[in-house]
Parts: sequence; C-alpha cells; structure tokens
Amino acid sequence: MKLNIAVLPGDGIGPEVTQQAIKILDTIAEKYNHTFKYLKADVGAIAIDKTGNPLPEETIDICLNADAILFGAIGDPKYDEDPNAKIRPEQGLLALRKKLGLFANIRPLTTFNGLIHQSNLKEEVIKGTDFVIYRELTGGIYFGDKKLSDDGKMATDVCSYSIDEIDRIAHLAFKAAQKRRKKLTLVDKANVLESSRLWRKRVTELSKNYSNVKLEYLFVDNAAMQLILNPSQFDVILTENMFGDILSDEASVIAGSIGLLASASVGDKTALFEPIHGSYPQAKGKNIANPVAAILSAAMLLEHFNLNDEAEDIKAAVDKSIELNISTPDLNLENHFSTANVGSFIRDFILDEDNTFYNKNNIDLGQSTII
Ligand code: IPM
Ligand code: MN
Repeated sequence: MKLNIAVLPGDGIGPEVTQQAIKILDTIAEKYNHTFKYLKADVGAIAIDKTGNPLPEETIDICLNADAILFGAIGDPKYDEDPNAKIRPEQGLLALRKKLGLFANIRPLTTFNGLIHQSNLKEEVIKGTDFVIYRELTGGIYFGDKKLSDDGKMATDVCSYSIDEIDRIAHLAFKAAQKRRKKLTLVDKANVLESSRLWRKRVTELSKNYSNVKLEYLFVDNAAMQLILNPSQFDVILTENMFGDILSDEASVIAGSIGLLASASVGDKTALFEPIHGSYPQAKGKNIANPVAAILSAAMLLEHFNLNDEAEDIKAAVDKSIELNISTPDLNLENHFSTANVGSFIRDFILDEDNTFYNKNNIDLGQSTII
C-alpha cells in the first residue's frame, strides 16, 4: 500500500516521539513492502514562532491532501503562563480538528501485563480493563462563544450541541460497541445541563437501531469515580468534548502512564492519529519521553487502512518492550532507557520474526545488542 502521511510533530516532546513513530512505520513498510511518504508541517508554538499563526495555510493544505496525519504534541509554557496571550498553540490543534471535521476522537484503554503490578491502582481493580472512549471533538464548550467583558470582570464559554453533532458520533460509538462487548455508557451531566439532556434524548432514540447494545447512563462525576473504582465495567464510553478530555487523562492511570495512550480522530476528511499526552516541556530534547503513545498512534493509523497484521506486530513489540522493562523513566525509574532506545527495541523486535535476535539475559543486564 502507498500512503502519504502528513507529519505534524508540534511542540515539546512532539518531535522526538514522532520520530520514533516514523521509525516504526518505516520498519513496517520494509517488512510488508509498503511505501509510506511523509510530508512535515508546522503546528502550534513552533508555527507561531515561524509564521505568527498556530495553523498556517500550508499545514492545512498538506493535511487535506494527505491520506493520514500523524500528530505529535502541542503547547508551550510561555503561553500557559500568560493568560492574556491572544494567540495560543492549542488554537492550532483545535482549528485543525474543526477544519478537517474530526468529530470523533477514539481513545482505547487497556492494561499491559508488564505494568499491572506496579500501577497506582490495585491489580485486582484494574485487571481485565479494556474499554474505548468515544470523545466528541469539534463541539461543546471548546468551540462555543467565548467572551470576556470589557472590564475584564466576567467571562463566558458557551456549551452547545446540535442533534446532528450528537448523532454522527453516537452512530460510530454504537457500531464500535456492536463489534466489542455490546455495552455503551453515555457519560453526561443530564441532571444539570440542557445540552446533556439533549445527548441523553438522542442517544436513547438512536439506541433503538442497535438493540443488541446495552445502553447505560452515568453522570460525569459518578463516571470519574467508577473509572477508578471498577474500570472493567466499561466497554464503550460515549461523551462530549470536555468530559472526554478529562476522563481520558484520568483513565490513563489505569494503563500505567499517559505516555502509553494513543488516539485516532476521524471525521469527514483526513483522519489524524495522536498520543493523548501533551507536550511535556520539562522533558523536551532530553530523550526521556515515552514514545509508546506515538508508536501506538501509528498502529492505529495502520488499522484505519485495515493493515491489521502490521498493527498487531507493533502492539506485540510494544508489549514485549514493557514486559522486558525496556521503558522510559515514567515506567521504569531504575535502569531506564531513552526514547530512541525504546523505539529501536520495538523496531528490532518487529524485524526479528523468529525472536532469535534478542537475548533476554542480555537485556536484563542492560547489555542487549539490539538496543
Ligand atoms: C487533548 C489535549 C487538547 C484538548 C489540548 C492540547 C487542546 O488536551 O488532545 O486531549 O484539550 O483536546
Ligand atoms: Mn487532554
């Protein structure tokens, strides 16, 4: 298969983790005889520095003409610390989501055998957890009218949803549930918010078309608690933009690190694949950031084109790296490996079909020849 992939490394650790994802895509291309071409483009703080615009026209063109987009991370402390900044890096990502009509952000959450024992949560609580969050991505409070009164003493953000916006992601979530364990949990705040009541009404109506899917409802405050108390109850979680943003960071604790979680954003045009983590500016350029979320985002990209064996190869290699503790400091404080080392191990494991190349004893001693 030939794919033109727009690569938007963005800010902070974005470039270094994206580089590892490309390394792995090249490995897959080599092994399976695909041709992946990459076109780099700027977004976020780096784009503001170069052009004054967090999402330059050229970047939009590159994305619209590509088959898929691989995205790194966005954000820079110099803007976080300045609430008066008129132009912000995050506007680049939000505008990109809107321009490309990326209305559904799909965030899978599973546990890794190699990490389950060292989680902040009890092993018996998180064991068997396997769910996916369908987060609405182009509506709600993120995109509603924003106002600051002239005297600067009052601010407003409007949260609105239309039934069309609810329906299109709800259909995707129901279809996903049909292919999984056939349970869909709608997370909202229907006891307080009008927009949530519309979500409940529409999703309940739509559920009649998916009679084999069990629909449940949870208020978001309760959902936040249930995620930690009993995460294995969930199969597909459907929710609006901001609730999904918050709950997915919370859920990353179940996996072991936010550096492990990938996502796919799909909609009307080119699909985008990105880690759920931010730009982690403290780690920028230090070669310590976890590349796994970026690498698993590349796996989701391949799945999007039905390259499922290829994606499975990546996931198996990631599992192996975690099992062998070939991990960055967020997972392995002692004897940790660098961002590039982890990427190289995953690459070599994918190429080493018979597993003859790696030597577990050497890896345990930190002397492996393949990293
Ligand atoms: C995410 C991020 C973004 C969001 C930020 C960077 C705008 O936190 O993708 O989850 O809030 O959607
Ligand atoms: Mn977020």
